[in-house]
Amino acid sequence: MPVRPIARLGEPLLRSRSHEVDPDHIASRRIQTLIDDMIETLHDARGAGLAAPQVFEPVRICVMEVEANERYPALDRIPLTVLINPRLQPIFSGSTPSRTESVIMYEGCLSVPGLRGRVQRARKVNISALDRTGNSVELHWEGPVASVVQHEVDHLDGVLFVDRVETRTLCFLDEYAKYVPMDQRILDGARMT
Ligand code: NI
Repeated sequence: MPVRPIARLGEPLLRSRSHEVDPDHIASRRIQTLIDDMIETLHDARGAGLAAPQVFEPVRICVMEVEANERYPALDRIPLTVLINPRLQPIFSGSTPSRTESVIMYEGCLSVPGLRGRVQRARKVNISALDRTGNSVELHWEGPVASVVQHEVDHLDGVLFVDRVETRTLCFLDEYAKYVPMDQRILDGARMT
């Protein structure tokens, strides 16, 4: 189960729409090995999530896990989650999420090493997907973890956080650590008064 190289910004696969996985192929050695390698690569890079196109495989699979992640200390825990062919339904009332319906969080990406920037996303999301055994899963995530899954599923559509970032908040990791106060790194609209 090798750690795989991670595609970086500029790699065309990161900008293409990934293919649906045929449910009959989920049990195949190729897909199961890919999932194992993605989990190992995610752990090795100490990321919160990884999508298959980030390891040069243009298929609709992402993995997420947060266990007291040192890169995202304010994130809630995410148990190891493998999503195949995920469909997301962000939940908000108007045409875009209001402030109280949003998480505004400094995001990073293993494919955009060294950068952070603030992205606003819906703070509630319904998720429909298949798991690695091919069973259907329905999840409802709220708060910063909803941002994580939206970031990962964006990858499957060729979208990167730099497309959604408030550009004037972009910063390198050292400057982020130095200048962005802890209480500004993750703003959950539901917890703001
Ligand atoms: Ni990413």
